[in-house]
Amino acid sequence: MTAPLTAPLTAPLTSPPQQTPPLALVIFGASGDLTSRKILPALANLAERGRLAEEFTVIGVARTEWSDEEFRQVALKDVPDAGEHWRELVERFRYVPGEYASTETFDRLKALLAEADQRYGTHGNRVYYLATIPSVFSLIADALAKEGCNVPGEGGEFARLVVEKPYGKDLESALDLDAAVHRAFDEDQIFRIDHYMGKETVQNVLALRFANAVFEPIWNRRYVEQIQITVAESIGVEHRGGFYETAGALRDIVQNHVMQVLALTLMEPPTGMDATHLRDEKVKLLKAVDIPTPDEAVDKAVRGQYRAGVVDQLAVPAYRDEEGVASDSMIETYVALRLRVENWRWAGVPVYVRTGKRLPARVTEVALQFHRVPFLAFEGELARQLRPNTLVLRIQPNEGISLHFGAKVPGEEFRVQSVAMDFLYDTTFHEGRESDGYPRLLHDAMCGDATLFIRTDEVEQAWRIVDPYLEAWAEPGGGGLHFYRAGTWGPHIADLLLERSGDSWRIPEL
Ligand code: BG6
Repeated sequence: MTAPLTAPLTAPLTSPPQQTPPLALVIFGASGDLTSRKILPALANLAERGRLAEEFTVIGVARTEWSDEEFRQVALKDVPDAGEHWRELVERFRYVPGEYASTETFDRLKALLAEADQRYGTHGNRVYYLATIPSVFSLIADALAKEGCNVPGEGGEFARLVVEKPYGKDLESALDLDAAVHRAFDEDQIFRIDHYMGKETVQNVLALRFANAVFEPIWNRRYVEQIQITVAESIGVEHRGGFYETAGALRDIVQNHVMQVLALTLMEPPTGMDATHLRDEKVKLLKAVDIPTPDEAVDKAVRGQYRAGVVDQLAVPAYRDEEGVASDSMIETYVALRLRVENWRWAGVPVYVRTGKRLPARVTEVALQFHRVPFLAFEGELARQLRPNTLVLRIQPNEGISLHFGAKVPGEEFRVQSVAMDFLYDTTFHEGRESDGYPRLLHDAMCGDATLFIRTDEVEQAWRIVDPYLEAWAEPGGGGLHFYRAGTWGPHIADLLLERSGDSWRIPEL
């Protein structure tokens, strides 16, 4: 029998087992926004798909004075359309109200964990999810270690810590946080989440590059002229103004999501799709990103902030008028950078990055623009307007890939025009795709597969790249803040970053 021509690519990484091992999931910050919006819906998704072991339970910990019953009610309310499996699981939920600095909180937690092992057979296996504000991450890690919760309970095999971003606010604080967390947990126990790594289309960058022979030969400076990475959002800061005031677009999106997409797109082929090989290659690539001095950084970046405007036909307020935002805030809601990757493959290819809130649409894409033909033999205006070949990886929405190339317009005249060859996820695959990466990531963490999680050296390299911009902007008059009207593609001055090289920003296809 001959092998099928279209052998399925096993998931990037190793196919996840159907069910998690027995374990107790402890959610710190259980009464918070992240738990409500992401973690509980992800758990419900896994429960309904039979991905959780029978021997499984959840313990919530937070400062809010709730009872077990109140926590259960919230879990049902947060997932209104979940089915019977979720309702059954929620009946097991327990809740510990208390301060993270108090021994009582952890004594109570330990008692409940022991009870869970007895009642539900969770076998001493624990996954702790830090869904709290970052300032208490190290406090909780320390307390867990002090109480002996950083190792599995009796007969157990693992105790893991899942950590949400932001992981530090600059390189120094990230290193401090890492040192504190490492006092309590070893690196192989720590699962740092970047939800972009859970997105199918982000993982598909690996399939496109390493499961196809046609792209790899042209994936380098000889063929690629420039690269643009766009993470545009039409939403503003919503109810997170207070948090955003401590972050800004560079910390919120570039340091993590953009760096992950950049690393996967530009890294060298890994020799295996496992946690070690994949992350080794990402780190190697991040290390090759050129680090400007703070002075140079001012020249290579543009930061902006939205003023009032119209988005999706609705009038929206200025950032400075959002709840929780200072009326003279200098925080950027838009950032554009011109990066260079200094290695054999990418030397001389500019990598333009932009992200912003209150832009005209929600779109995340990577566009590789190829060199033009060396000589254009066709005449006529349309041929002159021909755009260079571009390969666009659309991460969201309308997930897919399109290749833009020149084609002859039918007719007697020889006219050439840019057209696109499109692959759309939705029309090709009918399997359900997760709306966000949380179910996948939570499942992987509970199964101990670290491939899609961020290793300590990746975090460090990503901060090393963005730190000079933060430093430059912290100086008085360092890299002014440029305003843009909500509903536009950011401050005009961002065009200058590209115009110097004769390039311009793409208008993403919506
Ligand atoms: C989060 C940021 O990490 O990513 C938010 O904190 C942002 O500010 C969100 O809105 C974007 O995620 P997605 O999946 O909608 O692109």
